[in-house]
Amino acid sequence: MALHSSDIRDLERLAIAPTYARPGMRQGIPKHELPPEGMDPRVAYRLLHDELMLDGNARQNLATFVTTYMDEEADRLFAESSDKNMIDKDEYPQTAAIEGRCVSILSALWHSPDHETATGTSTTGSSEAVMLAGLALKWRWRQRREAAGLSADRPNLVMGINVQVVWEKFCRYWDVEPRYAPIEEGRLQLNAEEALKLCDENTIGVVAILGSTFDGSYEPVKEIAAALDDLATSGGPDIPVHVDGASGGFIAPFLDPDLEWDFRVPRVHSINASGHKYGLVYPGVGWVIWRTPEDLPEDLVFHVNYLGGDMPTFALNFSRPGAQVIAQYYNFIRLGFEGYREIQQACRDAAMYTSQQVAAMGPYELLSDGSQLPVFLFRLKPDVSNYTVYDVSAKMRERGWQVPAYSLPDALTDVSGLRVVVRNGFGRDMADLFLDDLRAATAYLEALPARLPPDPSHTPSFSH
Ligand SMILES: Cc1ncc(COP(=O)(O)O)c(C=O)c1O
Repeated sequence: MALHSSDIRDLERLAIAPTYARPGMRQGIPKHELPPEGMDPRVAYRLLHDELMLDGNARQNLATFVTTYMDEEADRLFAESSDKNMIDKDEYPQTAAIEGRCVSILSALWHSPDHETATGTSTTGSSEAVMLAGLALKWRWRQRREAAGLSADRPNLVMGINVQVVWEKFCRYWDVEPRYAPIEEGRLQLNAEEALKLCDENTIGVVAILGSTFDGSYEPVKEIAAALDDLATSGGPDIPVHVDGASGGFIAPFLDPDLEWDFRVPRVHSINASGHKYGLVYPGVGWVIWRTPEDLPEDLVFHVNYLGGDMPTFALNFSRPGAQVIAQYYNFIRLGFEGYREIQQACRDAAMYTSQQVAAMGPYELLSDGSQLPVFLFRLKPDVSNYTVYDVSAKMRERGWQVPAYSLPDALTDVSGLRVVVRNGFGRDMADLFLDDLRAATAYLEALPARLPPDPSHTPSFSH
């Protein structure tokens, strides 16, 4: 009897020896091959959980525009609906209805004249939304050209060189010539004059960005549209505007209600926004809305019936998660207009406070101050020669802060800056912690007796 129980104790001792104290987990698994056998789910969870600790801390990530915080209730809904496929509209009719309600809400928020028949869809993000909006522009242009008996083989799209990379992708994937207007010192956005210079009868549209990825500034949508109105009334081509409101589509309606950038401007035919940026949802949701149903050519819409019922779809993906769309609607009803306004105002206040403090440190100058998107870009003054913005970025990383340093696009590639994106959750306390660390990093770099050698591992560009 005594012998028997000591055997069990020995066995128990052996069993707790392997990693994570789970029986049978004595051996590692191949990293790049499918393991021949499975493992205890708790061990699989632990392995991944621990490896992911090496990712940056989302709250200190000042590089991303994408949401890193949601309510616990939203987390719960997200987990509960993670098995829903957005495309299965017959199987999940309520998810489909919720998507429709979100489209109506955004269509009204952006002042569509026809929001009763709101036309739009959720997407995986602004990138897919941009592809769909761009395709609609191309189709409508081609229909107009063919109806007039004119050639339709050389479409072009006009935008600022500061566009996000997705527009470059759109042009390459769909065979459209990109026409980029230059930026210059003191003007980091597209303006009406530069846009007009590039337009001709083959221009499918002009893209204006509400909230440039580079510095958070708004492009002058109304002025660009007015210049295109003049072009059309003087006998030139009639060119629609698409607004890339990836970030600003969820900022301007709440903080700048008098700014006319949306469907109040008659020339604006479509708008995209990222639900997962200032729409305050975890990654994977975007939106595209057309001014009226006529702005979306019918032959771009597919009707699928094998899941039961008739299901119109205009999307690049077929299957895609529904949880983010549900989380978007959760935010709409949980926060309401006033809740969104308060959060976005808090972000703008924190961005402007932080940018002013950065400017007051001495070596830095602001290229934008957070008064449009809650985002600011700053660079080193010309007399700083012992270190670069890349050194500041690397030094801040030692304290966990992720602040990207990058050079501006063509014409200003010799200008490099650091960008801070303020999101929900970056309040005054976080701002002060960040500023303390930036002051300490700057003091260290300022005290260097000589120029830092270049870091061979550093790449001086940042992919937008
Ligand atoms: C202006 C702009 N357009 C489009 C995109 C692409 O958006 P998403 O990441 O939602 O695909 C971004 C992303 O930063 C952006 O800033």
